[in-house]
Amino acid sequence: MSESSATGIRPLSREQIDAYHQKGFLLLPPAFLPPASLATVLDAVPEILAQEGEHRILERDETTVRSVYGPHRSHPSVDSFSRLPALLGAVTQLLGDRVYIHQSKVNVKAAFAGDRWEWHQDYVNWLDLDGIRSPNLVNVAVFLDEVTEFNGPLTFIPRSHHNGLLAGTDSTTMPVGYEGDARWVATLTATEKFQIDRAELRRLAGENGMVAPKGPAGSILLFHSNVLHASMPNLSPFPRKLLIIAYNTVSNPPTNTANPRPEFLASHETSPLEPAR
Ligand code: SIN
Ligand code: MN
Repeated sequence: MSESSATGIRPLSREQIDAYHQKGFLLLPPAFLPPASLATVLDAVPEILAQEGEHRILERDETTVRSVYGPHRSHPSVDSFSRLPALLGAVTQLLGDRVYIHQSKVNVKAAFAGDRWEWHQDYVNWLDLDGIRSPNLVNVAVFLDEVTEFNGPLTFIPRSHHNGLLAGTDSTTMPVGYEGDARWVATLTATEKFQIDRAELRRLAGENGMVAPKGPAGSILLFHSNVLHASMPNLSPFPRKLLIIAYNTVSNPPTNTANPRPEFLASHETSPLEPAR
């Protein structure tokens, strides 16, 4: 199919598409979104964060909300937002096929208390736990707050996705503070299950540097499932909430159907998304 037939629009320029493929990420300004679309998501955030359940992960302090998974399933405004023609058009241009949502989450990175995310690639989890055969997935991180150098911005090693999967060590023990939790929680905490070799990180960061894209609320950060990324704890008095939606192509569904992760972590529904009106 043609790159744009899901929505009929091609919001990204050739230069933006090339930059994404070269560096592994692309930052778009808030004007990329239709006016008022961010506000519909922001209105739903307090309710998303308040809803207790297995899909809500706390920090090690057992009080602060770290992440809430699956908001596109539970909140109609996030569902509509995730199907905005501009977003679907952009991810379709980047992935070259029709898409569905493999996973969504709000990462809170709370003021004073939001913990780190260690260096990792997302794809190792999606291959190992969900059986997704190709890394042709893109994350769309929507800034729900202004992201600055102080509140724990996502930090990338540009071009690191060209190295494929940097097979990390797979820890078989549960992270400290989460010992009694379900196994799948091991991939969602401040201690990564798949640890990246530090010599490899030093080499890649030495060659390519590190970049932490920053911008006002409403900015959109697209990043490849194999680009190395991390974020520091938030010691600032300001939160850094992100809505992160991982889009996958319909031709690349999970193959682990015998022992699938819960729906809120790895969608079992892989039909192509229809653009919201
Ligand atoms: C992620 O790695 O998916 C998110 C990290 C962050 O929220 O800083
Ligand atoms: Mn990640």
